Formats: sequence, structure tokens, C-alpha cells
Amino acid sequence: MDAISRGISPIHEVGLDDLIQRNIGKRLLATTNLPAAIAETEMTLIAVGTPSTAGEIDLSYIRQAAQQIGEALQAKTSYHVVTVKSTVVPGTTDRVVRPILEQASGKPAGENFGVGMNPEFLTEGQAVADFFKPDRIVLGGMDERTIDTLAKLYSVLPEAEVIRTNNGTAEMIKYASNVLLATTISLSNELANLCSAIGGIDAMEVMRGVHRSNYFSPLSKDGSKVTAPLAAFFSPGCGFGGSCLPKDVQALVTHGHKHGAKMQVLNAAMETNLQQPEQVIELVKRHFTSLRGVRVSVLGLAFKPGTDDVRHSPAAPIIRRLHEEGAEIRAFDPIVNGQFSRTLPDVPVQFCADLPAAVSDCDAVVIVTRWPQFEQVPQLVGKLKQPPLVIDGRRMLPPDSVPRYEGIGLRT
Ligand code: UGA
Repeated sequence: MDAISRGISPIHEVGLDDLIQRNIGKRLLATTNLPAAIAETEMTLIAVGTPSTAGEIDLSYIRQAAQQIGEALQAKTSYHVVTVKSTVVPGTTDRVVRPILEQASGKPAGENFGVGMNPEFLTEGQAVADFFKPDRIVLGGMDERTIDTLAKLYSVLPEAEVIRTNNGTAEMIKYASNVLLATTISLSNELANLCSAIGGIDAMEVMRGVHRSNYFSPLSKDGSKVTAPLAAFFSPGCGFGGSCLPKDVQALVTHGHKHGAKMQVLNAAMETNLQQPEQVIELVKRHFTSLRGVRVSVLGLAFKPGTDDVRHSPAAPIIRRLHEEGAEIRAFDPIVNGQFSRTLPDVPVQFCADLPAAVSDCDAVVIVTRWPQFEQVPQLVGKLKQPPLVIDGRRMLPPDSVPRYEGIGLRT
């Protein structure tokens, strides 16, 4: 709260500090006084964490927030809308949040207050831009009055497409959106591994061929083709990570099981993703009789470029496996450095100051994150007397750009 009041964002997001500074003390007020916040406003957005515990989302912060909001609603006479913004499994808003609000306030929902669900679709690293140019705004609500109040909140973004629906559907739209991305990634990785096993087929070429289909790149009226961003997810790689995709797939699988659904596709998507780091290890192993004492430089620790977030990054399992095989590990990431040690405290990793240092004096380079800076690898490797083997976990380099190349989905 103090940081926000001083105009400082507690997380790294482009443009967020500026946004806070422009509005703090005017239209933005940070407070820990929940009853006052409820009394003086018309709507509350619950945006607390829903961490993953044993494959399920932990709703304790949601419950706690609903309890406190409900208690504060006791004293409120004017209409108020309580909206869940956190990602919660379908059914949570109506079957967990609403009853707590009703019991804690002593009032039935629908009269004195409405209960809504408004999922967020922001991408880490571009959250502010995504917020102001949303691809869609999903407004879930228990009744029309709740949805109308939410619509008023978003009337400042008149261009955006608004989807009005019930709470459960809103919750499901969020999960469906993310598990589609995760499943697309795992499908591409399964196909890439098959291309590699068969030999003579480059998965990148295969997927580019698919990207040109009308499903991905429809012809526009002027005869040109525009490729849908989903195509970026249909490409070979070393797996998905971050705080959303792995957690959401797992949570929906567990939730589905509770409702008697087998969830076979999503189970497989998760399984393929967990195995994908091993593909990288196999590619390194092809070139050495043993990895004992082999000097490997891992490029990229963040789960994706443009962020310092290392949660569920494929870098962790890749580094762990390299260590188990006896390799000496170095790492370089443009933003993440020593703080990565907390992720794997028992694995010795030497952090390099820059890319040239990471690439020189090593036997193999493994690209894990698609940082644009790593496009310089061929140029740097080209200057070395003994160029290392380059393992391209993101298929971002042309295979013939370095003397010794291996990539996911390509058997050399
Ligand atoms: C994701 C969604 O893209 C957002 O729309 C959503 O709002 C957000 O989750 C959320 O639920 O809050 P994010 O996790 O920030 O956003 O990152 P993505 O760009 O989707 O990447 C996720 C992972 O997939 C990364 O590890 C990335 O490296 C990996 N990925 C992406 C691949 O492995 N292959 C690809 O082709 C593309």
C-alpha cells in the first residue's frame, strides 16, 4: 500500500508506474481500511491470488476477502456490486463467494448487492497496453443489474467488444482461453518430437505450412493474408510455463475430475509439457558420450521474454536434469540473474554478466527463452575458435547459422 501511495508499482510492468503516478491521490487511493473502501464506492473487485496447492486452486484468500466484504456490506444501505476478478474454477463465484457474502452480510444477494465475475485477459509484460485495448470484456453477473453496473465501469473503453453472461460461463471463458493455448503448445511439441523421431522432416516447416491455411491465415478482401497470433503457439519449443498456463490446466483437470469428467486431453497437454524439457537433454546427450564435466550455458531463465518471472519456467527442469547428468552449468538472462538461485537452491549455477561471456568457453549452449538478444548467438559463436554446440529450444535461429546446431523438431 505504501509503495502505491508513493507512486511505485510493486511489480514490473511497462507503463504501470506512470499510470499510478498520474492518478494517485486523485482517482486512485490505496488503503487497508476495507469497511471505508466499501462504504465509499459502488463496486469491489476481488483480485486476490488463487495459488495452486496440490493441483487445485487455493480459495482461502477469496473466502477471506468475501467474508470481510460481506461484513462491511452489513452497514451499507445503497446498492453495491462485488465482482470476482481472480481466476477461479467454474462455479466458485455462485457457490463459494455468493454464500459467504450472504451469510456475512446477513442479506440476500440480488437485493442490496449483486455478485459478478469479470475475468482478466492480460499478458504479462504488456498488461497496461492489453487493459486499454482489450480484445473482449467478459461481464458475468447473477442478474442484469449486476451486469449493467459492470458495463458502466467499462464504458470508458467504448471500442471494446462486451460479452454479457452468467458467472459460471465467465469463469469458464477464462479457463477455456488459457487451456486452448496450452493444448496448442503441447500438440505442436508432440508433433515436433515425432518429426524428430521420423527424421528428414522439419517441424518448423510443417507448422509454417499449417499457419498458411485459411484457419490461421484467412484471405482478406484485398487479397492479403493476415496470420492469427494463435499461430505463434503452434510452433516447436521446450514447453510452456509462467503463473497462468500450467496452473490453469492443472486446476481445470482437478476440477473436472471432481465433476466426473475424465479430462484426457488436458491431462495429456500437461504430461507432454512436463516431458518436454527432457527433449532438450536428449539433444545435448546426442553429442557427448557423457555429460559429466561438460560445460553447458543455459540462455534464458524467465518463462518467456520481456519478464523477470521465473515461475514454472522450463529453465528449472532443464538445469536440474543437466546437473543430474553431471554437467557444469552457466546461465545468462537479460533480466533474471542471481535471484534464480532461489528456484533451484541445491544446484550450482554460475551466472554470466553478458551474452558473449555466456557463449564463450563452453561446450554447449541451450536456448530456453526466446529473448530477441539471443539472435546474436550465431554472430558470437562465429568468432570463437572452438564453437559450441547450439541447442535451440525455441527454434529461433536458422539451423545453418552455426556450425553445430540442434533444434526441437529437427533431426540433424
Ligand atoms: C497467458 C495468456 O496468453 C493471456 O491471454 C492470459 O491473460 C494470461 O495467461 C493469464 O491468464 O493471466 P502469459 O502466461 O503471460 O499469458 O504468457 P503467454 O505469452 O501466453 O506464454 C505462456 C507460456 O507459453 C510461456 O512459457 C511461453 O514461453 C510459452 N509458449 C508460448 C510456448 O511454449 N510456445 C509458444 O509457441 C508460445
